[in-house]
Amino acid sequence: MARIFVTRELPFPALDRLRDAHDLDIWEGDLPPDPATLRERLRSAQGLLSLVTDPVDAELIAACPQLKAIANMAVGTDNIDVEAAKERGIAVGNTPGVLTDATADLAFALLLALARKLPQGEAQVRAGEWRTWEPASDLGADLGGATLGIVGRGRIGEAVARRAAGFGMEVVHSSRSSGVPLDELLDRADVVSLHCPLTPETRHLIGDAALARMKPSALLVNTARGGVVDQAALRRALIEGEIAGAALDVTDPEPLPADDPLLEAPNLIVVPHVGSATVRTRAKMAEMAVENLLAALAGDPMPYAV
Ligand code: DGY
Repeated sequence: MARIFVTRELPFPALDRLRDAHDLDIWEGDLPPDPATLRERLRSAQGLLSLVTDPVDAELIAACPQLKAIANMAVGTDNIDVEAAKERGIAVGNTPGVLTDATADLAFALLLALARKLPQGEAQVRAGEWRTWEPASDLGADLGGATLGIVGRGRIGEAVARRAAGFGMEVVHSSRSSGVPLDELLDRADVVSLHCPLTPETRHLIGDAALARMKPSALLVNTARGGVVDQAALRRALIEGEIAGAALDVTDPEPLPADDPLLEAPNLIVVPHVGSATVRTRAKMAEMAVENLLAALAGDPMPYAV
């Protein structure tokens, strides 16, 4: 029986399987454990069930000599120093595939809300400012015939492309190994949707230069990682009308403080990293993380290894 630190209460049935096989130490707070607490609780553990909110860096890994397996309940692993873990022979797993549709749905929800100015319309109604049916105000953008530029063509990018086809959009993509160069995508796209991982190469990929290439009517959607966008540049671009709008499920930092200057920008929607937040998806993510831990702690390869 191994000791496993679980960094948040997870009310999913899969946890029972882990509890039956191992000794679980579950963090009792509603917010992530701070780094010192995480180090303290992980020091004597062989397994870790982590979330995207838990930074697992080389220092933490070095401080936990017994650690054998890290199961991140996320597809992204940018919160983990995977190289440092591998050097120590620690197995690292994630949850690919199951959150593809939920995240692609959210990207489309954000895109539609942005294109059709839903937050502004709703605010008008609640403020008693709905005067009449207006022939020429509240006008948004048509998606049919518009060009969607997908940056990164993994599972989620593909799923967004399938949805776009249903809306009659033309799709171009740019990725490390295929598609058009990013500059061409930025020149052509009416909507740019980000689906690449956060790496040193993609950090601030969308900054001043990229935003300057986009059409003044273009919309930006980010359901990938906050760090892919330079938020100071985005704020300026929205204020100056360099692009028409942006919708973000992810920000840097997370949570985005309510007084962050980005929130002063017009035509901006921000939601709190809810791409995978559906009942079925989160339960499946928990199940995959549990399967990864059960396998690795039994000395087998993780079924969803990074
Ligand atoms: C992931 O899995 O990487 C998401 O961002 C969290 O749902």
